Amino acid sequence: MNKIRILSILILIIFSSSNINCQNRAHRYSAFHPGKIWKDSDGNHINAHGGGIYYEDGTYYWYGEHKGDDSKAHVGINVYSSKDLYNWKKEGIALAVEKDPNSEITAGSVMERPKVIYNKKTGKYVLWFHLELKGKGYSAARTGVAISDTPTGPFKYLKSYRPNARKWPKNFKESSKREFKKGEIGEWWTDQWKKNLLEGSFVRRDFEEGQMSRDMTVYVDKDGTAYHIHSSEENQTLHISELTDDYLNFTGNWVRVQAGGQNEAPAIFEKDGKYYMVTSGLTGWDPNAARSFVADSIMGKWSALGNPAEGKDADKTFHSQSTFILPVEGKDDAFIFMADRWKPNNHIDGRYIWLPIEWENGKPIIKWKDEWDLSFFDEN
Ligand code: DGJ
Repeated sequence: MNKIRILSILILIIFSSSNINCQNRAHRYSAFHPGKIWKDSDGNHINAHGGGIYYEDGTYYWYGEHKGDDSKAHVGINVYSSKDLYNWKKEGIALAVEKDPNSEITAGSVMERPKVIYNKKTGKYVLWFHLELKGKGYSAARTGVAISDTPTGPFKYLKSYRPNARKWPKNFKESSKREFKKGEIGEWWTDQWKKNLLEGSFVRRDFEEGQMSRDMTVYVDKDGTAYHIHSSEENQTLHISELTDDYLNFTGNWVRVQAGGQNEAPAIFEKDGKYYMVTSGLTGWDPNAARSFVADSIMGKWSALGNPAEGKDADKTFHSQSTFILPVEGKDDAFIFMADRWKPNNHIDGRYIWLPIEWENGKPIIKWKDEWDLSFFDEN
């Protein structure tokens, strides 16, 4: 009897330890599984929403919004690192919310879509993100900037902007450069309103204070010039703005893109000297059909290429919204479309949709895959 008991205890120990090993092994990935729980090396679902990636010396750094059950910033901006893009280690909080209730990044503010770039001249890592002030909904429409000496931070918050105050866009008609007349915007969503929007009423309205900046990304061009791309004019029009040499301010050189096009969630990449941009439409946390554009230079002119998604649920971008397009290091023409599958009822459960960019007739295409790995780029 005793022998049987000892044997069964032994079997139990062996069985449960192999189970533990299985669980640990489950956190080593060798492929992407879009839409599934994606555990970091500690076994927790990665918490880096609306994110972007910066690469340096064999390591990718993924910056993203820490989310709890709501959409506010209660912790800040998380950073993870990876050598292979499948397995991620949590490095900590790159930019923490501040306790001071008077701080612009106090807990309860909104900090979205963080993107990091490195400035060779200053040796600083520069983090830009969409900032909304606590208790003010989405009305502040600002972009915030922070710097660090290392990619993992902690980053030091510098300030926030309404970009391009007192600067007209380069592609604005001379006749549009006039003082804003109270009431000139007109009744919302009427034909007159749309006409006034296209002609620049919101730009004039925000000329003194600076232009609205909500969904955003930053992009460093081959010559080292950095650009800030953001949804502006009540999310109706994209603005592309050149940043100063230190990447911390706006030069005042900016253009309006796709006026009235309602583009959010911009993500940019370059291939063979052409620039491509993927965006979403404007439906809050709900998914919609993505859009794609091409241009010969960042400042445009951008031409529409249509919805890049193909197949089932392409009209909803596979239930996700773009956030970044990542060039894979060491591979030619290998780009990963990164998107968020938002879970507005429990934001922490938001999922990540990473899919390879494919090409058809010179157009970037995104097709659903349950599972894929980087060898896809060698085979296609
Ligand atoms: C859509 C944006 O893309 C998100 O980043 C977020 O700002 C939500 N809107 C808020 O409704």
